[in-house]
Amino acid sequence: MTASLEQLRRCHFAVDLGAARTRVYVKGAGLVVDEPSAAAVNTRTGALIAVGEFAEKMTGRTPHYIRVVRPVSGGTVVDIEMAQRMLRHLLGDKLRRTLRRKPRLRAAAAVPHDADPLAQRATVETLVGLGARRVELVDTLIAAAVGCGLPVEQPEATMIIVCGAATTQIAVLSLGSIVTAARIPVGGDAIDHAVVQHLRQHHALMLPSQSVRPLQLALSGNGLTPQGPEQTEIHGRDVATGLARSVHVDTAAVRSAIHTPLTAVLDGIGRVLRDCPPDLVADLTERGIMMVGGSALLPGLDQMLRNAIGVPVHIAERPDVCAVRGLGEMLEGRIQPMALNPLTD
Ligand SMILES: Nc1ncnc2c1ncn2[C@@H]1O[C@H](COP(=O)(O)OP(=O)(O)OP(=O)(O)O)[C@@H](O)[C@H]1O
Ligand SMILES: [Mg+2]
Repeated sequence: MTASLEQLRRCHFAVDLGAARTRVYVKGAGLVVDEPSAAAVNTRTGALIAVGEFAEKMTGRTPHYIRVVRPVSGGTVVDIEMAQRMLRHLLGDKLRRTLRRKPRLRAAAAVPHDADPLAQRATVETLVGLGARRVELVDTLIAAAVGCGLPVEQPEATMIIVCGAATTQIAVLSLGSIVTAARIPVGGDAIDHAVVQHLRQHHALMLPSQSVRPLQLALSGNGLTPQGPEQTEIHGRDVATGLARSVHVDTAAVRSAIHTPLTAVLDGIGRVLRDCPPDLVADLTERGIMMVGGSALLPGLDQMLRNAIGVPVHIAERPDVCAVRGLGEMLEGRIQPMALNPLTD
């Protein structure tokens, strides 16, 4: 599926439409958009009220005639028209005019590993609606590996885990291609959901949708590891009375609630390693695993993986923007393909 470097170099802009955030890289200008994939719509008139950060802030706080929608779900564009409107607004008039001026506008987009033809088509349609004449698709795993500077072209194994909001993608790469890979439908959202469910069941507390992050921060420092604080105070609404209430939450219990979705990720890593040729696995024990994606920032996740798999685990610099940065590098032509010409004798 991944387009050739030659084709990518001819693209003018690159888009990573994620379940949580939308990112756009414009050739020559850099990363110009990094905002939540959300749009607020007036359901009476159909007008768009806000997009990105502002729309996300409105989530759960709107009157009945305003609805916050998310056009991307599970890494796939589910509402093409809304995705186009959102992208148009995120790009802004000035950038859109610059892009429109290009003859034969070309776009690149990151799509999840193993995206089915329908999902690929939805991404292409979205960008065609923005004026692109041609859309090149790149596997997120390759884009992210390039973006975090892994030596993907070398004949040695590198392992990458892309921890997104909706999915976790795992791959072993060698010689610029994917050797084995897996995509697991568990990501940051599932972890947030586990925390919310835990508080509901064990403390009869409903959390506002946007306050899971503070709880994660409370776990931070030592995060998922047992050295963290024992208790933390959380504010929410009582399930029965509807009144505001705060409780002291046992962090060890939250940690074990988080572990449940993470076992799926560990299973996936095991599967990828089992399918991988032994020579490459040997490389990995030395080199370790690179974590990218927003959820790689979940405090203590790296330590947990390190304990579970027994190999070094590194978090990339700015892990959340690795995929789009990788697309950018390819657009700017900074990545040289390794010459794998047939040997002549
Ligand atoms: N500092 C942080 N600590 C914990 N989790 C974080 C942090 N920052 C972001 N996240 C989580 O990372 C996720 C977003 O990651 P990312 O931006 O990679 O997702 P995405 O690319 O939109 O999703 P996907 O690739 O699955 O479509 C969210 O679930 C968010 O909760
Ligand atoms: Mg992503």
